[in-house]
Amino acid sequence: MDTNVTNIIVEKVKNSRINQVDFSDLPFGKVHTDHMFVCDYKNGAWETPKIVPYQGITLDPAAKIFHYGQSVFEGMKAYKDEAGDIFLFRPEENQKRLNISSKRISIPELPKEIFMEGLKTLLQIEKDWIPTSVGSSLYIRPFIFASGTGLHASPANEYKFVIVCAPSGPYFSGKLKVLIEEKYSRAANGGVGYAKAGGNYAGQFYPTQLAIEQGYQQVVWTDDNTHEYIEEAGAMNIFVRINDTLLTSPVSDRILDGVTRKSVIDIAKAEGIAIEIRKIRVEEVVNASKNGSLKEMFGAGTAAVISPISGFGHRGEHYELPELEDNFADRIKKRITDIQYNKAEDPFGWRYQVV
Ligand code: COI
Repeated sequence: MDTNVTNIIVEKVKNSRINQVDFSDLPFGKVHTDHMFVCDYKNGAWETPKIVPYQGITLDPAAKIFHYGQSVFEGMKAYKDEAGDIFLFRPEENQKRLNISSKRISIPELPKEIFMEGLKTLLQIEKDWIPTSVGSSLYIRPFIFASGTGLHASPANEYKFVIVCAPSGPYFSGKLKVLIEEKYSRAANGGVGYAKAGGNYAGQFYPTQLAIEQGYQQVVWTDDNTHEYIEEAGAMNIFVRINDTLLTSPVSDRILDGVTRKSVIDIAKAEGIAIEIRKIRVEEVVNASKNGSLKEMFGAGTAAVISPISGFGHRGEHYELPELEDNFADRIKKRITDIQYNKAEDPFGWRYQVV
């Protein structure tokens, strides 16, 4: 690939919007920084990337993204420590996963240098936008979509890779109530569940809306075949604590290989917490709740960080979880966020300083 990524073309805004932003009350993903990174794929190659003022993108109505949904994305965060240094968390994992997702829906591979250099250059330009208040960070959304045109149901010949950033507060406010879903499915064997494809999320909106109407915030997806096993929650992977053992489902064709998920597993091991990566029967969780051995459930994801679950619904019954003083969720969250915000040693080598 010939693209010379050191020659990113940079066009800066004349007037920053940063003074219009209330950094003490940041929503999630709604306020955008001044600039965005854009790289086009045309004639079989990724072109010279650009950083330009944040702006709309004009597309032909026949662009294949509109018709066949060819789009993949990543979720990442940048953190700033007290000295003003900027950090990412395991960015190479996102870079690799973006290409894994792309491959599944026939989007051309994006060279690692474009992803990494684009990200770092954009963050250096936007460093003043990285919030420092507790629970806040700069949410980063790299994505690729089919900009090439044609109504033939086949892969596009042109794509856009874009990175936008949003100074953000927490994705969820407070503890979550989740509904175990047995009718709708998020993913199937041989499908795209493991990919971070835009359509995977669209397919969840309607069942999630039905769950919201019943007082729940998230759906816990079960396997499409039997609906007997807990899989993931769409916006996050799921962990269950029964007695003193932490459980999470193995990744598969149907489950996203979450960066936070695998970090939680490693932290749990380092903390001496018993962890089992195995299929989790819904029945096991319901029984554990009934007999008092279900201690905790929490979600793990980039946006969600570690999101404790206060209770779950299943077949019209609601099951409350106990409030534990000394819980795994808080312990693991502290370890992970201390690494992310450069407040503690990083024995895993996950923190990535942006220079
Ligand atoms: C993330 O956690 O960053 C994601 O991409 C999930 C999304 C639903 C916000």
